[in-house]
Amino acid sequence: MEKTLKSCYLDNAATSWPKPEAVYKAAEVFLRRGGANPGRSGHTRSLDADRLLFETRERAASFLGAAQPEEIIFTFNATDSLNMAIKGVLEPGDHVIYTSLEHNSVLRPLGSLRQRGVITTTMVSCDSSGWLDPQDIEKAIRPETRLIICTHASNIIGRILPVEEIGLLAKKKEILFLLDSAQTAGALPLDLSRIGADLAAFTGHKSLLGLPGVGLLYLRSGVKIKPWREGGTGSRSEDELQPEIMPDYLEAGTMNTVGIAGLNEGLKYLQKVGIETVREHEIALNRRLIDGLSEIKEVRVFGAKEPRKSVAVTSFTVEGIDSGELGYILEQGFGILSRTGLHCAPCAHRSIGTFPQGTVRFSLSCFTGEEEIDYALASLQEITSRFS
Ligand SMILES: Cc1ncc(COP(=O)(O)O)c(C=O)c1O
Repeated sequence: MEKTLKSCYLDNAATSWPKPEAVYKAAEVFLRRGGANPGRSGHTRSLDADRLLFETRERAASFLGAAQPEEIIFTFNATDSLNMAIKGVLEPGDHVIYTSLEHNSVLRPLGSLRQRGVITTTMVSCDSSGWLDPQDIEKAIRPETRLIICTHASNIIGRILPVEEIGLLAKKKEILFLLDSAQTAGALPLDLSRIGADLAAFTGHKSLLGLPGVGLLYLRSGVKIKPWREGGTGSRSEDELQPEIMPDYLEAGTMNTVGIAGLNEGLKYLQKVGIETVREHEIALNRRLIDGLSEIKEVRVFGAKEPRKSVAVTSFTVEGIDSGELGYILEQGFGILSRTGLHCAPCAHRSIGTFPQGTVRFSLSCFTGEEEIDYALASLQEITSRFS
């Protein structure tokens, strides 16, 4: 088959590409025309940078349904936010419940705290379609349970989890609820006040369409947390301890201002296009992808196979071809960029029955088009016919 596309990027769950034009421009303009440190100096450029942070924080709060801008903390990625949340709220003796779909950015901080004897944990397993019964979470609750952690959607099969029910359960039992929204913010309508999360982690470079190196932590006002990083904030410099006002309490050190300039434009783009439009576009494309994959007899698709129950992240295997090898063939032979292996979520692969070999993952964005899906399907058809 002739290559009909120069490049076919289907790895948006790792990081989205392309970005809206305004994101690239904002980063360049910020560096060339301003680039100053926000909140530190009294000069005009520093004040401009301060305004940028303020505007982006407000925009993110309103886009995500936070009650106040101060509940949004700038971090460096979702991993940073999850570490800040997990290590900031847990105390020795606490018990944590999490799901088998969690990413290593949850599994590893929990693993290290557990190994050091600081906490105990219970993992609630999803079934092979990624379905999770909130009652299983309820059954795992102990008197010392302090935190429930749940990803909003799997980064392997895209399955959306019943986070509103889990939020209600956590509230009823007075347990903190930490939502990992790395795969959902910017991909589907998300309202933190409805979900009832006490803490939530976001990353700027995936569906929020911003640059790498910027993330967000949502901290519901009133939730107590220890600061993860302490240092300069530009405020109360005479104090020996971290100022307790938000967001300074959790934003020590110079933030990634250029990344924040990009995130602001990513958010603006999503507001302009409308998150419902993005969602419907991705549902339609993912349906086209899943239907097409299901027609190739050597292909096995994992997950709910129902685009409305998932974000546009789809995993599959091809009979007789190792997933890593298939990813290589897709790129070298057809220019298709995918992600293969365990996707930093080994327990999820155990749940869906693909550990340790893993899967090939295609993940879409608001910029993916039908032609890319059709090209990927035709390429897979050609590969399977060659191997059979
Ligand atoms: C569900 C989930 N959580 C957390 C992360 C970590 O995101 P980041 O690498 O931006 O910190 C990812 C990244 O793929 C993810 O998919």
